[in-house]
Amino acid sequence: MILRTLGAGAGGGLPQWNCGCPQCRAAREGRIPAMTQSALAVSVDGADWLLLNASPDLRLQLAATPALHPRALRDSPVKAVLVTNADVDHITGLLSLREQTGFRLYATAATQQILAENSVFGVLNPELVRRETIALDQPFEPLPGLTVTAWAVPGKVALYLEGDAPDTQAMGEQTIALTLQAKGRVVHYLPACATLPDWLVDRLQGADAVYFDGTVYADDDMARAGTGPKTGRRMGHLPMAGADGSLARLAHLTGRRRYIHINNTNPALLPGSIERAAVLAAGWELAADGEEITL
Ligand code: MLT
Ligand code: MN
Ligand code: ZN
Repeated sequence: MILRTLGAGAGGGLPQWNCGCPQCRAAREGRIPAMTQSALAVSVDGADWLLLNASPDLRLQLAATPALHPRALRDSPVKAVLVTNADVDHITGLLSLREQTGFRLYATAATQQILAENSVFGVLNPELVRRETIALDQPFEPLPGLTVTAWAVPGKVALYLEGDAPDTQAMGEQTIALTLQAKGRVVHYLPACATLPDWLVDRLQGADAVYFDGTVYADDDMARAGTGPKTGRRMGHLPMAGADGSLARLAHLTGRRRYIHINNTNPALLPGSIERAAVLAAGWELAADGEEITL
C-alpha cells in the first residue's frame, strides 16, 4: 500500500493567509516547510489512486505529484475520491475536479446530503462523477485490492453547520475514521477525532500505521498564540498533550504514528520547541506535504 501525504495542514494551511503566528511567519520565511490542507492519496499498484479528502489546495497538490498526472490527452490516475466529512477543508477541492473526467465520489449519506444541498457541486457532471454512499462498518473496495471501512468516531458537524450548541462528541456519520486494508497491511486515517475512549484506542491497536488528528498540541493552543479563544475540544479536535490527549492515550501503539491535519498554531511545528521534542520522543512523526510511505 502506498500512502502519499498530499497535505498535512488543517484548515487554513501553513502559512494561513491572515495569520502572523510564529509558525506562519517561519513558513513564509522558508524556515519550516509550508503545509497545504489535509489529504492523503492511496494506491495499491502505483497506477490507480484513491484520494482521501479533497482540500481547497487539491489543484496544487495534484500538480506537485507526478503519480497523479494524466498519462493521455484526457486522463487521470485519480479513480476515486472519498471525503470523510463536509468540512470546507475536505470538500472544496471537488470543485477543482470539474473538467469532465469521471471518478467515483464516496461519502456517508450525511455528507452526500450536504454535497447534494450545495448546488455548486453540481459542476461535477453526474454522468461522469458517480456519487457512492458508504455505510458505516461496511467494507467496500474503491480500488482493486484496497478495502476501506468507514466507522464513526466522536466529533461534530462542519463549522458552517454548527448552530448554537453543537454536540462536539457526537457519534454518527459526521466524523468518520477510515480503515484501509491491502495486501495484509492495515492503516487507520482519522483527520478529526474529539476523544479517545477505550474502545477506540483498542480499535487502533495492531495497525501498520495510524494517521491521527494533530490539529492542536494543547487544548488552548489558539488562546496561547493569541489567535482566538476557541479550544481544540470545542473544534472537535483532541489535543496531543494531557492525560487524555493522543500522545498519552496512543503511547502503546506499535505501528507508525503520524499526525496529520496539523493547525498552523500548533507549536510542535517549530524545530527546537519543547512540544516538538515531546511528540518525537513519544515516537510520533509529523506528516509533511509530499512524503510517501510504502507498507
Ligand atoms: C476543522 O477541522 O475544525 C474545520 O476544518 C474548521 C474550519 O472549517 O475552518
Ligand atoms: Mn479541518
Ligand atoms: Zn498561524
